[in-house]
Amino acid sequence: MCGIIGYTGTENDVQEVLMTGLSGLEYRGYDSAGLAIANGSLAVHKREGEVSALENALPEMTLDGLAGIGHTRWSTHGPPSDENAHPHTDCESRVAVVHNGIIENYQSLREDLTADGHEFNSDTDTEAIPHLIGSALEAGVAPEQAFRQAVDRLEGSYAVAAVFQGEETIYVARNESPLVLGVGDDGHYLASDVPAFLEYTDRVIYLEDGQFARVSPSGIIVTDEQGAVVDTAIDTVDWDPEDAGKSGYDHYMLKEIHEQPTALRKCLRERVSELEHEITVEELATLECSGPVQFVACGTSYHAALYGARLLRENGISAQCFLASEYDAQSIPVSDETLVVGVTQSGETADTMGALRMANQAGATTLALTNVVGSSAARECDHVMYIRAGPEIGVAATKTFVSQQAALTLLSSVLSGAESPTLIKQLRGLPEKLQHVLDESTAQEVSAEFVDADAYFFIGRGYNAPVALEGALKMKEITYKHAEGFAAGELKHGPLALVTEQTPVFALVTGDTAAKTIGNIKEVEARGAPVIAVTDRPAEVGQYASHVLEVPTAGPYLTPILANVQLQLVSYWVAAQLDRSIDKPRNLAKSVTVD
Ligand code: F6R
Repeated sequence: MCGIIGYTGTENDVQEVLMTGLSGLEYRGYDSAGLAIANGSLAVHKREGEVSALENALPEMTLDGLAGIGHTRWSTHGPPSDENAHPHTDCESRVAVVHNGIIENYQSLREDLTADGHEFNSDTDTEAIPHLIGSALEAGVAPEQAFRQAVDRLEGSYAVAAVFQGEETIYVARNESPLVLGVGDDGHYLASDVPAFLEYTDRVIYLEDGQFARVSPSGIIVTDEQGAVVDTAIDTVDWDPEDAGKSGYDHYMLKEIHEQPTALRKCLRERVSELEHEITVEELATLECSGPVQFVACGTSYHAALYGARLLRENGISAQCFLASEYDAQSIPVSDETLVVGVTQSGETADTMGALRMANQAGATTLALTNVVGSSAARECDHVMYIRAGPEIGVAATKTFVSQQAALTLLSSVLSGAESPTLIKQLRGLPEKLQHVLDESTAQEVSAEFVDADAYFFIGRGYNAPVALEGALKMKEITYKHAEGFAAGELKHGPLALVTEQTPVFALVTGDTAAKTIGNIKEVEARGAPVIAVTDRPAEVGQYASHVLEVPTAGPYLTPILANVQLQLVSYWVAAQLDRSIDKPRNLAKSVTVD
């Protein structure tokens, strides 16, 4: 939700680094983009729309300067426009600021500043920050102190960076919004997310809430709220810059769908041993769980959590699943015996972080199941388990969902001690079977027949029920068409009224719930709707469906993971035929850092 980037170095390549970073961050918001480069003066360029619009608006000559900041916006305060695009400046254009987060007290700050004669040019909450800094500069305060004084007055969440006219140093601060610093050979970086500067360096410092940093060509100095220097560790990220590119695919989403076998192998590596008949997750070695488990998550991660909760229950552990935005530790019984698991790809989702913080306060043990090393969830929870999917750039989650499902299978096995040799074998064979689905899928041809449908329905039972919900979410977010997912048994309790010849129904028919789902297919067929069965038993199910998308059998828990891949491909190909903005669907952003 908004992306920020900054670079200060000894080579005059600031503009290039910022533009590369902005392209890498565009998945966080694409309502507008902008940059500011400090020289004797401040060069500020910003445009409504995608990064390409900013690129077209830049002067032909590369902008000179040794320090700069950039921003991609997902609108919260004020609509997408050139004026509301970041960076924002003070009245004299001495300082430029980019910000990700929400300044909750911006209205009162704005009123005070306006009363003092400051003129605002945007509707944003952010613009209060450069004006606060400007006021301090006016009073003779030096840039770093002016920045700190301004940040001290902010209430809310922020990852904020400022450059000053004539200065090579970038000042940054963080509270409840992601910010990572990059340590390079010829310069230093800051960004909302590592892929923004991964091409230049893989050495990173994760800034903590309440910390400030002075980022200059010669080094990075991190300080606490009082200004005392903090010793920080430099971590090395093991993501390959190649992972962050499209590798010849038309869209990141398609590339990430095809990366799923690799993502699965990484998730299972050194955790599932067929030789020793063992499932071990090193990160969970110290995790003790004697009481109930509560999952909190949003969107796709919530669907993975539904799948995980079901697995735990089947293994004899009491488990519930909550939408993070609806979780309230005061009304939901939480004790120091409760394990609260936050399932979050980004590790930054505000709703999920809010729920995890509530659980922490209520005395529960917390576990983050996340993809992003050093993310807020990873740092704030008592325990963390990584899903190891690698960077996911497409806004629609694909490979991270599959990796979450696999990781939850491991978690369930570790918590319950259930390590059946059959499951271990099935897990080890899963990447190959997924590859088979990708190689043999006829989803492209099938979807071509249903591009003009009025709406799409997805049904499944048991472990397939969350997959049906996920299939519908994927369809609506990238095609902008109406789609709904249901537990198959629910269809007859209302939604059946919507089913017509123009509403294809995708039915997930695997495992021991297949017979009942076939019954539901018949109900749908009787209303004239085309049925596309996703199944591991085509001979049996084919007679009831107009089309079949086949998946190999991988056991009751894992076959639904394969079925989901067919649905991902169907959504992708419908969206491609409708010429949608697949990687950056309208109104969405990858990391939702607002409540
Ligand atoms: C949909 C999608 C979202 C996210 C949700 C939670 O494709 O990606 O629904 O799953 O915003 O995000 P994380 O997992 O980062 O907490």
